[in-house]
Amino acid sequence: MSYPKYQNLIGGEKLSARSGKTFLNVNPADHSDIVGEFPASEAEDVALAVAAAKKAFTTWRLVPAPKRAEILHRAGYLLSVRKEQYARDMTREMGKVLAETRGDVQEAIDEAFYVAGEGRRLFGQTTPSELQNKFAMSVRMPVGVVGLITPWNFPMAIPSWKIFPALVCGNTCVIKPAEDTPLSTYNLVQALIDAGLPPGVVNIVSGFGPDAGAPLVEHPDVRAISFTGSSEVGSLVAQRAAALFKPVSLEMGGKNAQIVLDDANLDLALEGALWGGFGTTGQRCTATSRILLQKGIASRFTSRFVARAKSLKVGNGLVDGTEVGPQVNAAQIETSTKYTAIAQAEGAKLLAGGHPLAEGLHAKGTFFAPTVFGSVAPDMRIAREEVFGPVVSLIEFSTFEEAIQIANSIDYGLSTALYTRDVNRAFSAIRDLEAGITYINAPTIGAEVHLPFGGVKQTGNGHREGLGAIDFYTTWKSVYIDYSDKLQRAQIDNAE
Ligand code: UN1
Repeated sequence: MSYPKYQNLIGGEKLSARSGKTFLNVNPADHSDIVGEFPASEAEDVALAVAAAKKAFTTWRLVPAPKRAEILHRAGYLLSVRKEQYARDMTREMGKVLAETRGDVQEAIDEAFYVAGEGRRLFGQTTPSELQNKFAMSVRMPVGVVGLITPWNFPMAIPSWKIFPALVCGNTCVIKPAEDTPLSTYNLVQALIDAGLPPGVVNIVSGFGPDAGAPLVEHPDVRAISFTGSSEVGSLVAQRAAALFKPVSLEMGGKNAQIVLDDANLDLALEGALWGGFGTTGQRCTATSRILLQKGIASRFTSRFVARAKSLKVGNGLVDGTEVGPQVNAAQIETSTKYTAIAQAEGAKLLAGGHPLAEGLHAKGTFFAPTVFGSVAPDMRIAREEVFGPVVSLIEFSTFEEAIQIANSIDYGLSTALYTRDVNRAFSAIRDLEAGITYINAPTIGAEVHLPFGGVKQTGNGHREGLGAIDFYTTWKSVYIDYSDKLQRAQIDNAE
């Protein structure tokens, strides 16, 4: 069968991997549908891309930030014109339903317009000097060439969270998109190029983590790394970068809890849990993988939730009416299968799903039935470890304090949700939940681009995307201008 062949984008040129190696991008809902062939890049390809980015940096850093931002504005507009096509491409390459891939493209559009505004801010500070006739200020400087490593679950939104702020701050980039979803990164960067981005400012090397990601992290001319993915790989990235004294922004796993109190609007909590648990086939770092139910509503909620989970329409995300798409690849199916066995061995009760779907309309893809476990204890592995699939654990509790304690009892800290009508409890939860994001009466998924995005504990290393990203993509320069025409010694000549 014929399919498009993509090449790396390096210094404005389309180049195959030097080794000639390639890999196929396959539709997870239908393995007979090949989305395209992409270069399997290695260290020498990365080196070329970094050299191109380094060269482009010499001029891009001098383009006034408001002018850089104009390109982002135009790219945002082009993305909105191309939204439907790019959403379809994305559903084909990673599976989530069309409504969601439209949302993913929309998130990149939102990011473009949000970050473009930064082109006329990038504020620093002015401050008095301790000496007479001396002016003091701080300004933001670009970092240089930044290396970006992005996951497959938000294949356009997450690259946009990194590329756009990096660009507006005056950096140039080399991006290695996830091997499951390179096309959406190509589409995103195409919009930038068509919007007028000069060659070499963004370079793409497609490929696999150990072959293409690792050399990017290690390349001496790459000044900072932004990574979104698993905590295991994030730890490797951080260790390599630490040895080279490189700043790293890490955005990793979650085991996000939705707490439902007895006084909650149960219908609302149910809708939130279904969307948070099974939206994107549970493959979000913000996915609701634990639902904490207060004893008074637990059995009513459970029976309704299980019935709804069983009736979700699983299928090809391009087909109208599909509610849950495939998992992205066979490895993810294996993980869901493995955790199903672990949960059962631990004594959790399988209430729905728990198996791959491989018959009929599911025969050609990697599908897993929406899965619900009851009788889950907070210390079970199924309640603590990230599955990244359509697998939800139900945990019961008696008091509000106990719910907070259970919610916090894990190694991750990305998103949390509380359903209640009690404003006092809502504010206590906002204060006490150990997470980068807390929702009240809304599910754990659905962050907006102009707020800080990130988590605590093993979810991240303290950086934020969205609001706060420019702190990562700039370094501070402090500037002192002495107009006294004499030597003035700080800490000495000002001491009376
Ligand atoms: C992710 O799962 O890595 O808040 C990102 C959300 C989305 C982003 C998720 N806006 O669920």
